[in-house]
Amino acid sequence: MPNQVFLGPTDFTLSKQSVADVCPSNIALIKYWGKYAGQIPANPSISYTLSNCHTKTEINFDPAASFAVKVNLDGREEVKFGEKIEKYFRSIEVYLPWILQGAYEINTVNTFPHSSGIASSASGFGAIAKCLMQLDASFNGLADEEFIRKKASFLARIGSGSACRSLYEGLVVWGETTEVEGSSDLFAVQYPTEQVHDIFRDFNDWVLLIHEGQKAVSSTVGHGLMDSNPYAKRRFLEARENFVPLKKILKEGDLTEFIRLVEHEALTLHAMMMMSTPAFILMQSGTLEVINKIWQFRKETGLPLFFTLDAGANVHLLFPENENSNAIKDFIETELKPFAQNGGIVKDRMVF
Ligand code: PMV
Repeated sequence: MPNQVFLGPTDFTLSKQSVADVCPSNIALIKYWGKYAGQIPANPSISYTLSNCHTKTEINFDPAASFAVKVNLDGREEVKFGEKIEKYFRSIEVYLPWILQGAYEINTVNTFPHSSGIASSASGFGAIAKCLMQLDASFNGLADEEFIRKKASFLARIGSGSACRSLYEGLVVWGETTEVEGSSDLFAVQYPTEQVHDIFRDFNDWVLLIHEGQKAVSSTVGHGLMDSNPYAKRRFLEARENFVPLKKILKEGDLTEFIRLVEHEALTLHAMMMMSTPAFILMQSGTLEVINKIWQFRKETGLPLFFTLDAGANVHLLFPENENSNAIKDFIETELKPFAQNGGIVKDRMVF
């Protein structure tokens, strides 16, 4: 049953168009892992939208040609990617009724290494959805900026769940929870910035690239394995419950509890992978060594360096930007960077 609010008008005038847009990636603090039909998340999630890691996409649309999708990534045609986007366009026709009436050339570049494990699907689908909404607005005269952004988030979600969070800045929530007003399973909303303590509003995320290359198990497969995971029900409940302390933590600036909660979420995500049948492990030995080093550093110095993990081996090193951050940065450069394959590290910083 399509969502009525986002159904597209069937009276539109097509024209040859070129549009371009940019969308950042994001890193979840409370993780989304497990979903229901129609890309509905099994639990609410919250993420930081990154600043430097983003995707730039240009779409050239030609209504005189028949439906076809060609995708170039960094100037090189990616046939598999093209097929994926073609399938995606077919899946959203009810929301953009003009979408199958022309040919697309999509040129896309990421500002971060494609193989880095930074969620390129989040920024990628976010950028495509933004471009599509530009086309939509030009074809049917839509001018409501807030609705355009909300619908872009809705459309991005259909491509890749976590992508819907990339449409907003700062801290962003996807999935209905009584703890966040206006939250929805269908699109993301910005977490109210006035309820976020200053300490969380200038934060570093340095991504240590432990392993570059394809993941052994895709997130699509990983989400699917939650359907038969005996711990899934408890996990979904816990993620939901975690919003209660998180709200208080964010308001009061309780960094110690923030660290506890965020690391617990990361380890729970990977524990779910290990408890799946078949089991899989995306962490590598370097991931574990870095985690132990972080814990040891924190114990010895009391400085707030901590981590989160995505569905991969890389470690997101999180720490607030303040008078202590130089000591943390020095430690990362000398003690943690050697664990990165090819010394790879992507430095991002969220300020809002
Ligand atoms: O959006 P997907 O289907 O690629 O899933 C992403 C899941 C995690 O990145 C592991 C967690 C999250 O909430 O972003």
